[in-house]
Amino acid sequence: MPKKKPVKKSVKKAAPKAAKPVHAKKLHPDAAPDILGVGLDMGTANIVAARETLRGKEVRHSRNAFLFIRDDDSTKELLGKMNIAQQRIKERHCILGKDAFEFSNYFDRATQRPMNVGVINPLERDAIHVMNLIVKGVLWEPRVPNEVCCFCVPAQPVDGAMDVNYHHNVIEIMLSVFGYQVLSMNEAYAVVLAELQEKNFTGIGISCGGGMTNICVSFKAVVIMEFSVAQGGDWIDAHAANVLNISPNKVAGIKEKGMNIVRPETMEQTTIGLFYRNYIKYFIEKIAEEFHKPDKSPQFDEPIDIVFAGGTSMVGGFLEVVRQELKKVDLGIPVGEVRKAADPFNCVAKGCLYNAQQTYKQGK
Ligand SMILES: Nc1ncnc2c1ncn2[C@@H]1O[C@H](COP(=O)(O)OP(=O)(O)OP(=O)(O)O)[C@@H](O)[C@H]1O
Ligand SMILES: [Mg+2]
Repeated sequence: MPKKKPVKKSVKKAAPKAAKPVHAKKLHPDAAPDILGVGLDMGTANIVAARETLRGKEVRHSRNAFLFIRDDDSTKELLGKMNIAQQRIKERHCILGKDAFEFSNYFDRATQRPMNVGVINPLERDAIHVMNLIVKGVLWEPRVPNEVCCFCVPAQPVDGAMDVNYHHNVIEIMLSVFGYQVLSMNEAYAVVLAELQEKNFTGIGISCGGGMTNICVSFKAVVIMEFSVAQGGDWIDAHAANVLNISPNKVAGIKEKGMNIVRPETMEQTTIGLFYRNYIKYFIEKIAEEFHKPDKSPQFDEPIDIVFAGGTSMVGGFLEVVRQELKKVDLGIPVGEVRKAADPFNCVAKGCLYNAQQTYKQGK
């Protein structure tokens, strides 16, 4: 069990104080007294929420995507046939989440995205409004006033610049308006909390997402290093789409349908596999570079495990290529097991949930 309250290091704003004790008689019928709290993975590609009820862990997700559509009869008819609900944003018609992804795939178009490379997309005027609607659709009502909701934020990238603090503050305000007491944490540290309990929270958590790749090195639940690399599934999609002359959405669809980057079966899969290899090679080289920076290099006597989570780690052959690339670099630390998380897609949300639950328990 971590001794310290695991709060995000790089977010300048002080994390909110621990939840106030909640009297048992006020509890929601779904909630056992020791399992209040909600985890929220605010991802570039997917938003995932997790909570625990008396029936077990419950997870909900939505694609973090939308599409403004034409307000004409033929579009409405098509949406009706496809059983797709419309929303209105200011005077415009819009579809959200999985529907937006499927509808744009139908026309081989790209979806619009409220987030880009881990943070709110500055190029989408209505990004915050849309994200608010998507989060509302995924999140539950707080079961008690000020139930803790812990969301994740990316670490500052080593190869790019972005305003993580602005992103953090917008999400914090959004969730507090929903009635939650808000807590934030680093995305890759959530992987450590979800997956490395048996290793005393010592090891490396890596979240391979849509917009970026987040890395956290932890020793006994204390964060030694956290950083990100500004590449992920979207980078693979954009580059493969460019040479295949199809939309990035189509590429994402091919990946998600199930393929193996070591044993591709079609020309499209071969191309996607090539960019996948470039991506894996790139982030492993960036990790090695960071580990060799004189003031940063982590020190471990015993081998430590590396755990991968996130949608981009789910492709067949991922670990095989990771192991090949790891052999080509010197991380400067002894590496133990290299594995995937038990539930890669929901792992970050589950780590955030763990943090929210610990905060609730400490406040009791
Ligand atoms: N089964 C799968 N095989 C390969 N890729 C997949 C699979 N499922 C999802 N993906 C890809 O994973 C990416 C999304 O992963 P994830 O949901 O972890 O990202 P995110 O958390 O939204 O993004 P980020 O953490 O970068 O902000 C997308 O590029 C998607 O196409
Ligand atoms: Mg993510």
